[in-house]
Amino acid sequence: MKPKKNTEVELRIDRLVYGGKGIGQVDGFKIFVAGVAPGDLVKVRIFKVKSKYAEGLLLEVLEPSEGRVQPKCAHFDTCGGCKWQFLPYEKQLEVKEQQVRDSIERLADMPGELVQPIIGCSEPWYYRNKMELSFGPGPREDAERVMIGFYPPGFHYEVFDLKECHLENEWMADLVGAVRDFANKLGLKVYHSASHEGLLRNLIIREGKNTGEVMVILVTSTETFDHLEEFKALFEAFPQVSSLYWSTVYQVKGQPTYREDKLLSGKETLTEELKCGEQVLSFDILPQAFFQTNTAQAEVLYSKVLELADLTGEETVMDLYCGTGTIGLFCAHKAGKVIGIEVNEAAVDSARQNAIKNGIKNAVFYLGAVDKRLSTMEESPDVLIVDPPRAGLGEKVVEQCAAFEPNRIVYVSCNPTSMARDLTYFKNLGYKTAHVTPVDMFPQTHHIESICLLER
Ligand SMILES: C[S@@+](CC[C@H](N)C(=O)[O-])C[C@H]1O[C@@H](n2cnc3c(N)ncnc32)[C@H](O)[C@@H]1O
Repeated sequence: MKPKKNTEVELRIDRLVYGGKGIGQVDGFKIFVAGVAPGDLVKVRIFKVKSKYAEGLLLEVLEPSEGRVQPKCAHFDTCGGCKWQFLPYEKQLEVKEQQVRDSIERLADMPGELVQPIIGCSEPWYYRNKMELSFGPGPREDAERVMIGFYPPGFHYEVFDLKECHLENEWMADLVGAVRDFANKLGLKVYHSASHEGLLRNLIIREGKNTGEVMVILVTSTETFDHLEEFKALFEAFPQVSSLYWSTVYQVKGQPTYREDKLLSGKETLTEELKCGEQVLSFDILPQAFFQTNTAQAEVLYSKVLELADLTGEETVMDLYCGTGTIGLFCAHKAGKVIGIEVNEAAVDSARQNAIKNGIKNAVFYLGAVDKRLSTMEESPDVLIVDPPRAGLGEKVVEQCAAFEPNRIVYVSCNPTSMARDLTYFKNLGYKTAHVTPVDMFPQTHHIESICLLER
């Protein structure tokens, strides 16, 4: 029987589903709950009832499951950033592997045995190389105060004041504190997206984990900012900061948002090195370019991609959604030619620069949306590598990929649901999924990365 909205019910959580929520049943009716572990007995208040399921707000864990651990972070209850801290890392890996298997079986209608054991992260804390924080106002009675942190789930203006984060290097909290004190001392105003008034929007910190370099970007509205010299002086206490940027965001209704990055001091790019097998490549990253946020595990991911691409030195390889060209550049010395396609201009600029920097002459990078670029492409790849955003490829791009008739396709996915859908499109076009390996790029969160090998 369906539970009624606003009633309180007790249920045992059976498993976690993709997206991080737990699922349990009351009288055979499915109920989704956030913030729970498999095996927990919980009390929830029903807040949404649909025809086939309901959603409940966790009120109390009546009986914690065996193995629940104390979250490490003081902000755990408010942040929502790493929701799985209460699960031991081994359990997180088990759940992620099972979720990929579920997607393969239920959504792609393929055997679960295709899914290989998940590759876990050797350091499940302090792994992120990028932190994008927002400025927000203090509580109502102290609204002029500037706070810096993340938006709790459901909030778009108020942030919590970040004092620690165990996914980032520990000194970052000190840097955030210094910027917060600076803003409060000068009485700077937080930008408000509804009124478009105020100055401070974001503080972005990027780190080269293997080089020790750090890029700091203060993002503001276009209002005048008179305190640049004082802002620069702040970083004398942080000698690891190798690039300091001030970026302004232009927002005009009906037009795409535009961000202009001005270098205040130091290097134009952040340099990071990645090691893949015998190769070590060096990457220069511009402020707005995408780069995998877990450096150590990016090396693991790319090594696996290279292994599956199984190149002999002759092949033409296409690297679609190539970002700063990392995957393609690692393939280059084992391929005849590499062609990368990417929609972000800064990333393409970085990819081209990175090819030159690493002495790679057989890689070209094209700017543009994959579907548009592919329709004008004359060369055909022998091996195709795709690493799309969460939405996946979609039917049209799958058809374009298959039309090239590559021998092998290596599909890197950050969403097992869209991946499963795309694998069925490929199957209908003659590409068999040989195997799928989940790789954990984001410990403490529900996010899952997978690599699939498809063969013609
Ligand atoms: C998951 S990232 C992969 C980046 C890269 N392979 C790496 O490992 O660093 C996805 C990339 O796809 C790009 N992108 C998103 N939509 C695109 C599109 N329609 N055409 C081309 N690139 C796109 C994004 O800018 C982003 O760089």
